[in-house]
Amino acid sequence: MTRRVDLRSDTVTQPTPAMREAMACAVVGDDGHGEDPTVNELERRFAALVGKEAAIFVPSGTMGNQIAVRVLTQPGDVVIAGRTQHLVGFEMGASARNSSVQFALVDDSSGELDLNEVIDVIDAEADHQPHVAMVTVENTHMPSGGTAWDVSTLRSLANAIGDRPLHLDGARLFNAVVATGTSAADFSQPATTVMACLSKGLCAPVGSLLAGPEPLMQRARTERKRLGGAMRQAGFLAAAGLVALDTMIERLSEDHARARQLAVLFSDAFPEASYDPATCRTNIVAFNHPQARQIVRELAALGVQGETLAPRRTRFVTHAGVGDADVAFVGEVLENFKPASN
Ligand SMILES: Cc1ncc(COP(=O)(O)O)c(C=O)c1O
Repeated sequence: MTRRVDLRSDTVTQPTPAMREAMACAVVGDDGHGEDPTVNELERRFAALVGKEAAIFVPSGTMGNQIAVRVLTQPGDVVIAGRTQHLVGFEMGASARNSSVQFALVDDSSGELDLNEVIDVIDAEADHQPHVAMVTVENTHMPSGGTAWDVSTLRSLANAIGDRPLHLDGARLFNAVVATGTSAADFSQPATTVMACLSKGLCAPVGSLLAGPEPLMQRARTERKRLGGAMRQAGFLAAAGLVALDTMIERLSEDHARARQLAVLFSDAFPEASYDPATCRTNIVAFNHPQARQIVRELAALGVQGETLAPRRTRFVTHAGVGDADVAFVGEVLENFKPASN
């Protein structure tokens, strides 16, 4: 059988044996009544980890983001976000549908928001433009190649927006923690609400968490129910989430090291892309190429699966299912690879 290396996303990860064991033995109850001890423990643990009063367990990162928008805005409000963020481009227009808000998009090509553009949008309220209810950032910032924010820049942003809430989409917050040495609590401190996923590099099968001030999380529980995200014996999933937080965070550095090796291989294979492998600091290799779709299709036929994020942007993601032999295999495939001429 030909080898297949799946670099489409870190969402393809499988639960570890310890997770399967914890799930089988989990003590559960009806979380709709607040009676699942394993869910309650996971929510407490995450809230403590990110330095917030409370947290809620949600089925997906998208739902965590959507609940944050629901509790922080009113219909017609403006949400300032980076142009390529998940909340903007990869949630099927959910913020418009669920919360009736509009986005003011600012440059996020570096992974961080352009502070001057953010300030301009807020200042424009004085020019009869709509109310800016919140700002949202992504850390790590997936589309720019898993870029981690500098915590001091995040603090400057929070200072600049004053008492307007900041939501941190930390789907890969722990990748940022491992890459920078900044703690999850320090990254979360400038934010009002923070979402993190258990089901990506941390390998849990399902689930994300949203944390913030207690009164806001009370409202978040109502919104979760409204969106159909209240679960019952969810402790089976939370049990895997606890193992993820306990045992899978430090391991992310292995994904980062392999991504760096892949970054060099891709940059050598596609010099015309002018991709600087030094920009790869976490687990995502992403670069622009005029033949991005074709490259992804033809590499997949050779056993190296990636994705496109946009018509001319490719993405290859490392995770626990990618080992050193897989990286070596990608190197062999890329050595002789040339996209077929059209
Ligand atoms: C940055 C970011 N935010 C949010 C999400 C949404 O997570 P989920 O797929 O669990 O809805 C993703 C998913 O890939 C993501 O990359």
